[in-house]
Amino acid sequence: MDAERKAVEPCSIVIFGASGDLTARKLIPALYHLFKEKQLPAAFRVIGFARREKTDDSWRAELRVALDEFSRTKPVDDVAWAAFAQNVVYCMGDLTDPAAYAKLEQLLNSFGDARLRNNLLFYLATSPSQFGDVAEQLHNAKLLHRHGGEGWQRLVVEKPFGHDLASAHALNNELTRFAHERQVFRIDHYLGKETVQNILMFRFSNSIFERLWNRESVDHVQITVSEKMGVGGRGGYYEEAGALRDMLQNHILQVLSLVAMEPPVSLEAESIRDEKVKLLKSIRALKPEDVAKQVVRGQYFAGVVGGQPQTGYRQETKVKPDSNVETYVAAKLYIDNWRWSGVPFYLRTGKCLPLGASEVRIQFRPTPQVLFSAATGGKLDPNALTLRLQPNEGISIRFNGKVPGTSIGVRPVRMHFSYDTEFGAYTPEAYERLLLEAIAGDATLFIRRDEVETAWHIADAIRQGWEGRSLTNREFYAAGTWGPIAAEELLSQNGHVWRDPQPIK
Ligand code: BG6
Repeated sequence: MDAERKAVEPCSIVIFGASGDLTARKLIPALYHLFKEKQLPAAFRVIGFARREKTDDSWRAELRVALDEFSRTKPVDDVAWAAFAQNVVYCMGDLTDPAAYAKLEQLLNSFGDARLRNNLLFYLATSPSQFGDVAEQLHNAKLLHRHGGEGWQRLVVEKPFGHDLASAHALNNELTRFAHERQVFRIDHYLGKETVQNILMFRFSNSIFERLWNRESVDHVQITVSEKMGVGGRGGYYEEAGALRDMLQNHILQVLSLVAMEPPVSLEAESIRDEKVKLLKSIRALKPEDVAKQVVRGQYFAGVVGGQPQTGYRQETKVKPDSNVETYVAAKLYIDNWRWSGVPFYLRTGKCLPLGASEVRIQFRPTPQVLFSAATGGKLDPNALTLRLQPNEGISIRFNGKVPGTSIGVRPVRMHFSYDTEFGAYTPEAYERLLLEAIAGDATLFIRRDEVETAWHIADAIRQGWEGRSLTNREFYAAGTWGPIAAEELLSQNGHVWRDPQPIK
């Protein structure tokens, strides 16, 4: 998992869907930063493949404008950009046209260094319905060698990977007709986040916490991924996705599996992914009648978020005026294994919530309420550990302390660790790490076939429980609030309450 020490061989990175948003916002800024920090291979090419007519120079000029806007470091370093841009070329072509792939092959053949011709990272930043076609065309053009051959070829595929188990399964079959599973790198950008990677380091390198990480000590776990933004211009996509498919099936289940999995036998990709799959498989299956009790969905109506007026979801562009699509989902899941038996895991995510924050909160069991019940009214706050994934990346511990001057006054106090203070402000973007790992051929931070399918199995069960049911009044929430009232009740049934992310003082 150590990116610094990974050997990266010269290669060409071919981006399909190069005119799209992802390329301008994430991929090119990530590659530029990797280049600037001397992490890219000594020789490389970035080839943009798309239908629109452009020259190398006009594409570079476009990317430069986007970089000024989206770079995580500003201003952009002109010298570094000029040196980087020399390696960036454009290949105009239609994804479905064999002639376009012949043109791509010619372009690759024009590179003097054999490694630039044969080590190929194909980044599919296209609509998922095109993944299969691109793989087939690459195969037909002999650019993707299924059974070895020279160099290496890999496919990096973006989410959404299918929209249910059946479609994900079909997509997996399509891709693996032309590529071996070890050549397929399925992205979940949460795995590229430093703080998400830190979950494993934190859990398995600290004996003071490691021994508490089980049903004996943990009362329950809360995973919150809240967003302030609404769906904005993505209404069309969101109508097909909803919060369950957009966030829970992938990002949240990934975080959950890292938080709850057993220690892997090594840090090898397969060992880690084996444990994640095992964990996902031990999540108790939800029957349709369980969904009503254990899962809450919600949809925002007009409100105010961070002082700004926000329209309701049903009034957003490309959204049906009577849409039942959920912009919020909360679930109570149980993990039926030895470690977690009986411990509720509460997951929630939503758009237009008061704060954009992702965190994992481990709430420990309280001490017996005998000594301090007079002082606390029997409500001694239990200890909690919060992994702040973003923003204010860090970890907080809450414990109880004596209030000075009083005889037995006791109240919660907090200790904060912050990445910035400890390590400086350098936080690479998730895509930097992911691109580097894909170039190095390490699949640890990518989703394996069985993993994506198991996650869909869980999401599908929830969707089936909702089928044919329109949203009720208790499922709507005003933009700028923490979600529907039903989500509070989900926890109160067990005597729990959501702990909302707090700004760090
Ligand atoms: C994406 C979802 O995968 O993740 C978006 O499609 C969401 O709807 C985004 O806003 C959140 O990512 P991050 O990194 O901003 O937490």
